[in-house]
Amino acid sequence: MERSILKELSLFLETSPSCFHAIDNIKNILFGEQFTQLHENKKWKLNNGSRYFVTRNDSSIIAFTVPDREMAGMRIIASHSDSPAFKVKENPELETDGQYIRLNVERYGGMLCAPWLDRPLSVAGRVIVKDRQRGLCSRLVNIDRDLLLIPNLAIHMNREANDGYKYNAQKDMLPLYGAFTAKGTFMKLIADAAGVEESDILGHDLFLYNRQKASIWGASEEFISCGRLDDLQCAFASLKGFLAGEKASHLAVYCVLDSEEVGNTTKQGAASTFLYDTLTRIHDSLCYTHEDYLIHLADSFMISADNAHAVHPNHPDKSDPSNRPYLNGGIVLKFNANQKYCTDGISAAMFRDICSAAGVPVQTFANRSDMAGGSTLGNISNTQVALNTADIGLPQLAMHSPYETAGVKDTAYLIRAAAAFYC
Ligand code: CO
Repeated sequence: MERSILKELSLFLETSPSCFHAIDNIKNILFGEQFTQLHENKKWKLNNGSRYFVTRNDSSIIAFTVPDREMAGMRIIASHSDSPAFKVKENPELETDGQYIRLNVERYGGMLCAPWLDRPLSVAGRVIVKDRQRGLCSRLVNIDRDLLLIPNLAIHMNREANDGYKYNAQKDMLPLYGAFTAKGTFMKLIADAAGVEESDILGHDLFLYNRQKASIWGASEEFISCGRLDDLQCAFASLKGFLAGEKASHLAVYCVLDSEEVGNTTKQGAASTFLYDTLTRIHDSLCYTHEDYLIHLADSFMISADNAHAVHPNHPDKSDPSNRPYLNGGIVLKFNANQKYCTDGISAAMFRDICSAAGVPVQTFANRSDMAGGSTLGNISNTQVALNTADIGLPQLAMHSPYETAGVKDTAYLIRAAAAFYC
């Protein structure tokens, strides 16, 4: 059971090199489970006992199932589709000495820079092309071969490299693309991969990604490493739980939202109206009133699922003295007095109750009191759709590295808890 889940998770991570690919993979899984796609620019006609999904920007998705009886409120799990990476700029090619072609890129989100160096990288994302019949269309692109590398500067040329080096994103982090003969070929390569003419590409959102495949490792194969575990591990596990759950009494809602790594404030992020628009539209289409929506909301619960920091083996002092999550120790419930995480006494109790009924272990996370931590999508989403929410995640190391590490057991715990949650 655990092995087959890890295989599936690895495949999902490896075939989701960008948020657009992740959403496309989720869509295809939902199509395979007889979900119907809705479009925001068309009328919705929903039926009780049916299953649907809708996307925004091809980088966020909300799937839901309507119970065949009067709904008892809503059960929502939200995770995010994006991960920190380098984004390819417009006019990307740069020359060095008439000998090299590099790509001009900029940071998307707050990544660890060092692990992006000296490893094969490639490019994935989407291009927007002019189609003679259909107007502007989006096409997925994945070059899917070792294409780029950001070479380190030799220790001889940077004697301070091991004494705390400050990476300059415009100088240190630009990938080498080819010899001078590669000049003028990058967008042609992208066009070929998308199966379009270079001149038809009118826009693009392209990101670098680490080519290293997922690995299961350790003395007893207790660890899994791959890029984008934050947060595709939660997106994957909550999807499996969503599909497995009974979904008989509540409106079951599965969300994966873009833009978490850059503050959620895009049209498709957790700070947008996407979730609110979708939930109210579902209610309208099922002939519920706005008051019914508010009543359902008061009876609803959301799990904001975004990976959590496990205690680091070399830096155990960086974790809180009494809230210490470990890999393979179960789902992490996150607390913050200033509500960067929106777990409170009530939502903690609700989440623990679900996990205890499902036989799933729960660990707790809080930042050290003398350290500022990160935030996530739960409290942001609550400004649009306010309901009891618990912030949780799966324990991991090296968050925001292009190669992160988690435990082999924890994915299955979230699948089990999510399946119990979607009752
Ligand atoms: Co995250």
